[in-house]
Amino acid sequence: MCGIVGYVGPSQAPTILMDGLKRLEYRGYDSAGIAVHDGNRINMLKAKGKLINLAEKLKENPVKGTLGIGHTRWATHGAPSDINSHPQLSGDSVIAVVHNGIIENYLDIKEELSQKGYKFVSETDTETVAHLIDFYYKSGMGFFESVFKTLERIEGAYALGILCKDYPDTLIAARKNCPLVVGKGQGENFIASDIPAILHHTRDVYFLDDNEIAVIKADSIKIYDRNQNEVQRDIYNVKWDIDAAEKGGYEHFMIKEINEQPKIIQDLVERRMPEGRDTIDMSGIKLRKENIQNLSRIYIVACGTAYHAGLIGKSLIEKLTRIPVIADVASEFRYRDPVLDEKTLLIVVSQSGETADTLEALKMAKRSGARVMAVVNAVGSSIAREADDVFYILAGPEISVASTKAFTAQVVAMELIALSMAQELGKFSTEQFNKIKEEIYSVPSSISKILQKSSVEKALAEKYSGSSNVFFIGRGLDYIVSMEGSLKLKEIAYLHSEAYAAGELKHGPIAMIDENTLVIAVLTQEELFEKTLSNIKEVKARGAKVLAVAMEGKSEFKGEVDDVIYIPRSSWMTAPILAAVPAQLFAYYVAYCLGTDIDQPRNLAKSVTVE
Ligand code: AGP
Repeated sequence: MCGIVGYVGPSQAPTILMDGLKRLEYRGYDSAGIAVHDGNRINMLKAKGKLINLAEKLKENPVKGTLGIGHTRWATHGAPSDINSHPQLSGDSVIAVVHNGIIENYLDIKEELSQKGYKFVSETDTETVAHLIDFYYKSGMGFFESVFKTLERIEGAYALGILCKDYPDTLIAARKNCPLVVGKGQGENFIASDIPAILHHTRDVYFLDDNEIAVIKADSIKIYDRNQNEVQRDIYNVKWDIDAAEKGGYEHFMIKEINEQPKIIQDLVERRMPEGRDTIDMSGIKLRKENIQNLSRIYIVACGTAYHAGLIGKSLIEKLTRIPVIADVASEFRYRDPVLDEKTLLIVVSQSGETADTLEALKMAKRSGARVMAVVNAVGSSIAREADDVFYILAGPEISVASTKAFTAQVVAMELIALSMAQELGKFSTEQFNKIKEEIYSVPSSISKILQKSSVEKALAEKYSGSSNVFFIGRGLDYIVSMEGSLKLKEIAYLHSEAYAAGELKHGPIAMIDENTLVIAVLTQEELFEKTLSNIKEVKARGAKVLAVAMEGKSEFKGEVDDVIYIPRSSWMTAPILAAVPAQLFAYYVAYCLGTDIDQPRNLAKSVTVE
């Protein structure tokens, strides 16, 4: 999605902005631009395509100045083009604006301003913001008041960085439903839509809340609420290192993040289930026995990969607590009038903590009196701040658009939440708990074993990368892993792939199976093994190639399949985590063979902050 960076201080802003934008590239974008105040005027450079195009323009037409804003745009209103890129300027370059999000009522405002003589050159909603600020400013209001007045008028979601020609020392930032942080440096300050953009300059950040405005100069940061009252905000010190947001010798962020999984899960498990403790440390969660006993239902709501982690959570919570759980994608949940009341718990799952549909589902549930628990990676994100209870997975920054380490950490988190709830309800003994604990503790080393043998997935990817049609099949938790494997293959390898509950094949999709189809069958759930095996025989009989993912020691079915990827033996609960890793590796290596843009796949953005 779009990225914002802004700077005010003693250094040359263009260098800092270009470097910040480079670090935001992973979010996905199709054009970029910067606006720099040179003390007298605002100079702007914009270019369609990758940052290199903007860098070349900058080389040809160097701009100088110590105050500036930069943007990477992922087109929503108007095609990717130089004109539609941000910053957007008011007609005579008095106001410059960069914007993430969508202004929903921009057409009404555009109409109103057009009647006042304002000329629009782009198709963007953002240009309306620049002109509206300009309108109030020229009506006699100060810069700050004009921005404030404009924010009262606009509806929708925004993170904004704003400059005014007459204020060569001031950067204004504002947010509503879109992430924005203000970075505090020594004699210099920053804004960014995402921490990695500024982390090599400062670790001290302020998270803006919705409807807040920050007025930022080189030596001061003032934050105001919607009533123009100054608010005091604690500084958050970012704990993770910039190395976490660098490739560290790997060719892609995706493979780096796949390889980080053992360590992340080990840290998560040791943090929440330290040695010697026979309960789970649920710091951040205030949900207690009486709250859980009082629940009539639980919803788990998320998007994409996080939804798949939620589906696994649904199975586990239902199985261990016997409380009914409904899992739903956030974009559907929001609009289907779900039953929500004080006896409902909504669990939202989100890596970024900024996904628009998930955030709106959360707000809707809260308005209905439901309690909301969030399983989130990004500390201080909107979802984390809105939820009643937060379970941080602390997987570090996930840069690759394809989510890998966040997924497995989310699944572990769901397991711990399910276990903790079941324990609160007295559903199992300390002995049973310790057995499960031991199984979860073995996950990091089992993943390491899978990673050590990644040449298996690489060779299979080379063998099957020419497939034009891939089906993932499985039953129960294996079906959910299939959904995740299929999503990975689609999003980074652009291969047509579908996940089907193996038992559903006969109800339609088997008609698609022929000798050009690759079927990837996941069979880690012991009691469902024979059932899925019979589905394998059905597709095999129709000419499909079959690649199975199964536990070590399961060799009796080898005659029925073309290839097998083995994962270490594990329990029904932990097997989905392990089975997800070969699926990630397979997708990665297929994409590698096909030469796609693995970390920034086409048409996709890292965090989806629009509906
Ligand atoms: C995963 O590979 C995807 N890129 C995507 O489905 C993602 O999981 C989804 O957009 C949800 O994001 P979130 O976890 O940040 O809310």
